Amino acid sequence: MYKYLKTNRYFAAVLDNLEQVAAEELDELGAAEINTKYRGVSFTASKETLYKIVYCSKIPTRILAPIITFDCHSTKYLYKTAKSIKWDDFLPLNKTFAIFSSVSNSLITHSQYASLCLKDAIADYFRDKYGERPNVKPKTPDVWFNLYINDNKATISLELTGGSLHRRGYRKNSLEAPIMENLAAGIIRISKWNGETNLYDPFCGSGTILAEALLKVCDIPSCYNRENLGIFYMPDFNRNTFDYVRKCSLESIKPLPNNLISGSDIDKRAIQIAKENLKLIPHGDKVKLAVTDFSKIKSIENSTIITNPPYGKRLGEKNEVSRLITSFGDFLKNNCKGSKAFVYFGNRELIKKVGLKTSMKMPLKNGGLDGRLTCYEIY
Ligand SMILES: C[S@@+](CC[C@H](N)C(=O)[O-])C[C@H]1O[C@@H](n2cnc3c(N)ncnc32)[C@H](O)[C@@H]1O
Repeated sequence: MYKYLKTNRYFAAVLDNLEQVAAEELDELGAAEINTKYRGVSFTASKETLYKIVYCSKIPTRILAPIITFDCHSTKYLYKTAKSIKWDDFLPLNKTFAIFSSVSNSLITHSQYASLCLKDAIADYFRDKYGERPNVKPKTPDVWFNLYINDNKATISLELTGGSLHRRGYRKNSLEAPIMENLAAGIIRISKWNGETNLYDPFCGSGTILAEALLKVCDIPSCYNRENLGIFYMPDFNRNTFDYVRKCSLESIKPLPNNLISGSDIDKRAIQIAKENLKLIPHGDKVKLAVTDFSKIKSIENSTIITNPPYGKRLGEKNEVSRLITSFGDFLKNNCKGSKAFVYFGNRELIKKVGLKTSMKMPLKNGGLDGRLTCYEIY
């Protein structure tokens, strides 16, 4: 029997330092026996709750159902054990697959080679049984498998989200340096914004923070725009239960009050892209957008500001960005009375240019960037 069927225990992989807010979100969605780990949260769930978590949760990067865990000291043993799994329980011959591996502190040291061994085991299982095999599609397969080896213990899992959950499907386009969707969702939860104050992003770019705020406050499932989910490939997948969960989730989408979420950006193309992206989300047309230099905004008072200003690596020159951040600090001080500002810096060197005392500072990575989330309370 597959491991998750015995235990009903699953693993949500999350970005560094989002473990706590991810655990909170999973708890709200009905998960039980929640254990926070490094870059992940382990939990148990009934079938219905699991489907709800996969369809609705916004913070995890991926959610895994462990198929098997075993001691693993060599790639030969990895291949042999993996080949004994009934892969046709998970993967139809006509579907494509890919493997995501990570390896640490073990005799097997190369994750790519470990992936290759697992891929060979899957392909050989099918060839022996059917004389043909499903194809590998590295970036956008139908089915993702996950291989995790730590301390010479291997776990092979089915990925239930069908690829990283940060790809919501609404961001068809972006300009430079967009923030990852699940990082934006994590920041919104850290800010504790719940729709009681207006939310404004004055450097909104392609609109990711606005879109995630909309998903949060209107209870829109993160997989609203996703066609293919990994749960469809679980051997015990129940279509009726999933359809019921989806129907209930869609029926509980709330309306968006006027003027609750707004954003602006100096770049006309960014606003056009944000508009197009937001159109793909229910009530997205009610998010207010404008082409504006932040310094021309009259005031943002008694609001929650959540934003990700330019950081000077890919976007413009360093000195120019330093000056921009200093003038943004002045703007916060003079024009944003009664507001709380959560500012995500792709480059932490810029924090000292703000000239305001932070009430919180937290490391958070955005892709390869070692960024910082800061909070300023303006009286
Ligand atoms: C790091 S990007 C924001 C990316 C955004 N979070 C997203 O996910 O697409 C910074 C944005 O600040 C905008 N920007 C630069 N200078 C500005 C200014 N003076 N006023 C308003 N926006 C500005 C840029 O056009 C860019 O879209």
